[in-house]
Amino acid sequence: MKTIITYGTFDILHAGHINLLRRARECGDRLVVGLSSDEFNQCKHKSSLLNYDNRKAVLEAIRFVDVVFPEQSWEQKADDIRRYRADVFVMGHDWLGKFDFLSELCEVKYLPRTPEISTTEIRQSLGAVVQQVKHV
Ligand code: CTP
Repeated sequence: MKTIITYGTFDILHAGHINLLRRARECGDRLVVGLSSDEFNQCKHKSSLLNYDNRKAVLEAIRFVDVVFPEQSWEQKADDIRRYRADVFVMGHDWLGKFDFLSELCEVKYLPRTPEISTTEIRQSLGAVVQQVKHV
């Protein structure tokens, strides 16, 4: 059985996330996802609209996802790869080169990002709509 591991915040799930998860799962037989905890997001000076439990419930309902576990720090990836016996580490190509050091533990793959969609853009659009409503 070939296990794939990937990481992300997966806030306000969109087609870019689904494409990444589908293509990651197609690399093997089982996909395990490290989901940024709310505390880790704060550490990265990021906030998510949906909290960890909500994001986890949504991810677990996706048919390409087999296991969701919390990502609490930058340093845990090597231990996770060993614990889940991951064969391939997958991330979108916005992370190109950043995780090459893990290649001594498993194969490292960067997949092309889906263009023109991101959680940041969705949040900016939502913010603009709220501002327009305030001015009506
Ligand atoms: N991803 C992707 N295509 C997109 C958006 C995200 O392939 N259009 C991938 C990322 O490269 C990453 C995973 O989905 O491997 C989770 O990304 P995440 O950072 O949670 O989502 P983003 O929408 O990129 O969020 P943000 O705008 O906050 O960075």
